[in-house]
Amino acid sequence: MKIETVPIPEAGLNSIIDDNALQPSDLEIAIVGATGAVGAVALELLAERAHPADKLRLLASKRSHGKQLEYAGQMLTVQEATPESLDGVDVAFISASSEVSLALAPEAVKRGVLVIDDGSAYRMEPDVPLVVPEVNGADVEWHSGIISIPNCTTTPLVMALAALRGLAEITSVTVSTYQSVTGTGAAARTELLNQSRNMLADNDLPPPTQYPHRIAFNLLPQVDDFVDEGYTKEEMKMLNESRKILGDNDLPLAATCVRVPVEISHCESVTVEFDAPISVNDARVAISEFPGITLMDNPQDSLYPMPSNSAGEDQVMVGRVRRDIAHENGIVFWLAADNLRKGAALNALQIMDECVKRNRVRPRVSAAA
Ligand SMILES: NC(=O)c1ccc[n+]([C@@H]2O[C@H](COP(=O)([O-])OP(=O)(O)OC[C@H]3O[C@@H](n4cnc5c(N)ncnc54)[C@H](OP(=O)(O)O)[C@@H]3O)[C@@H](O)[C@H]2O)c1
Repeated sequence: MKIETVPIPEAGLNSIIDDNALQPSDLEIAIVGATGAVGAVALELLAERAHPADKLRLLASKRSHGKQLEYAGQMLTVQEATPESLDGVDVAFISASSEVSLALAPEAVKRGVLVIDDGSAYRMEPDVPLVVPEVNGADVEWHSGIISIPNCTTTPLVMALAALRGLAEITSVTVSTYQSVTGTGAAARTELLNQSRNMLADNDLPPPTQYPHRIAFNLLPQVDDFVDEGYTKEEMKMLNESRKILGDNDLPLAATCVRVPVEISHCESVTVEFDAPISVNDARVAISEFPGITLMDNPQDSLYPMPSNSAGEDQVMVGRVRRDIAHENGIVFWLAADNLRKGAALNALQIMDECVKRNRVRPRVSAAA
């Protein structure tokens, strides 16, 4: 895919960029999908940063046009997301669906908007950086208008792998995920809660709408559709996105993705093999020193990451770090990360910060003649 870019407009942002004094709070931001699970957290995070309300556009589907959402103590009105609704915007976070991203992102780029896309539509395109700032922040340098964030299971995994790969060469990764329902969106959370209430009241359950089976008091060894060789799309995303972010096209990685009846936070059990022995202590130190990761590892006191202590937190939490007793050079660990924060909205905001820091809110080269 070649992304069409346009000449940089003369007014507005450029004058700020030229004097290198741009701050994230100077930017006119649009959130496409403001009424969704990720959009709600993006609003929370922007409010925490005191981003000015008059530099914020809340966009969603036609259904939500006119709806009021609370932002930092005031009510803002949602508009329908259309190409024209992006006129004058500096950065658009698209957190809706692949179809919306495919329709709106090129329109945004034509208007000189930097798109930070939460969906999977552009992640594997060669001219779209796929970024976790702590791991490959420098990749924002070569964007042409669109930057993608990874899948919410890939992000914490590549952070842990990036922490460990300085110790020895990684020769294989085996991961099983335990993914919360908000990874599917706001409607899946409602379904989990409704099914749970009905089951506790001994009521009949309506047929599931979000998953092939009920999720309450159950777990599903299927996240997304099955594709090749018995793997699901989600499992293949973990492989392909990890390879792209880590810049290692041969990284051997096998994932099993499981949906669990948890509201927020994805957990992962990870086994990493290396080409040489590494000590558990070295692994703990490398993990604890990596930006964005907190080591929470005191099994004697039952202290380890869980959805209940990682939901609402910005850090990826890693614990249960131990020697792999089945493989000579292996390390086994467990992690948890808030899928709506570091798995989505927070990572997207950090990408914007990285672009501001590197003076790359606009693409380096404008392709237009
Ligand atoms: N949830 C996660 O943990 C997570 C993590 C990483 C990435 N993502 C990605 O983020 C995106 C959003 O996920 P989510 O969990 O927030 O989903 P969600 O809760 O289902 O929200 C979907 C949002 O998209 C909006 N939308 C739907 N159709 C639209 C249209 N035609 N034009 C404009 N907006 C439209 C919805 O607006 P209405 O309310 O008007 O329908 C709503 O705001 C997805 O691409 C997902 O893959 C999610």
